[in-house]
Amino acid sequence: MAQFTLPKNSTINQSAGRKYPAAAGAKKVQTFKVYRYDPDTGENPRVDSYEVDMSQCGPMVLDALIKIKNEIDPTLTFRRSCREGICGSCAMNIDGTNTLACIKGCDEVKGDVKIYPLPHMPVVKDLVPDMTHFYAQLASVEPWLKTDSPAPTRERLQSEEDRAKLDGLYECILCACCSTSCPSYWWNGDRYLGPAILLQAYRYIIDSRDEATGERLDQLEDPFKLYRCHTIMNCTKTCPKGLNPAKAIAETKKMLVERRT
Ligand code: SF4
Ligand code: SF4
Ligand code: FES
Repeated sequence: MAQFTLPKNSTINQSAGRKYPAAAGAKKVQTFKVYRYDPDTGENPRVDSYEVDMSQCGPMVLDALIKIKNEIDPTLTFRRSCREGICGSCAMNIDGTNTLACIKGCDEVKGDVKIYPLPHMPVVKDLVPDMTHFYAQLASVEPWLKTDSPAPTRERLQSEEDRAKLDGLYECILCACCSTSCPSYWWNGDRYLGPAILLQAYRYIIDSRDEATGERLDQLEDPFKLYRCHTIMNCTKTCPKGLNPAKAIAETKKMLVERRT
């Protein structure tokens, strides 16, 4: 896949933003200021303003984006699928916070709704970040059960207690809101795995059915992959699923210390 990176030193061209006023007779107008960038044009990014009649629109930011695309400006580009906080594809920065557009209410934002792509990611177009590197990092932690023992006839069993250890981990939808809110990931994302991937790594480390715990910990014993986390906690604060990746990272560090002693 081609990499499209926001040009270095490029700034948003404030004067180039286009304005799309609401239709006459609109009853309840809210303005959406949306980041626009198309690498094919060679132009700097701009911010377009769309006035939407909220009396004719669903309540969520994703509803407004879909209305804009369907009725006002079909060139606006963004990802979405499930519309209920499960697929993770509509992750973006809304009103200064990384979150999911489909579960963020427009009325939660006072005034204009400012919408940008997830920060510090290469931008493919408009609100679509290039997730290639993120997914390569995910693959590097081998997010599947690894076993050496012979497969049982039915399934690998787990006690209720061991199953409970996966709570707060299995719910991760890999939206990348946490990683792209993490300053350590912004500056060292080429080598630091970031909170989303480290939470996934821990989910398999802690799974009683997995038989590669030592190997997984060996992989993380690295000055960059894990130890760039400085417990700034942005990740946990921003997770739209209410998960705690910082805790998963701290638990992994603890396991590494414990196996040395
Ligand atoms: S931990 Fe939360 S914010 Fe991070 S990828 Fe998973 S669901 Fe998204
Ligand atoms: S706690 Fe660690 S992973 Fe989370 S934002 Fe801070 S440095 Fe990043
Ligand atoms: S569209 Fe699936 S999480 Fe928002």
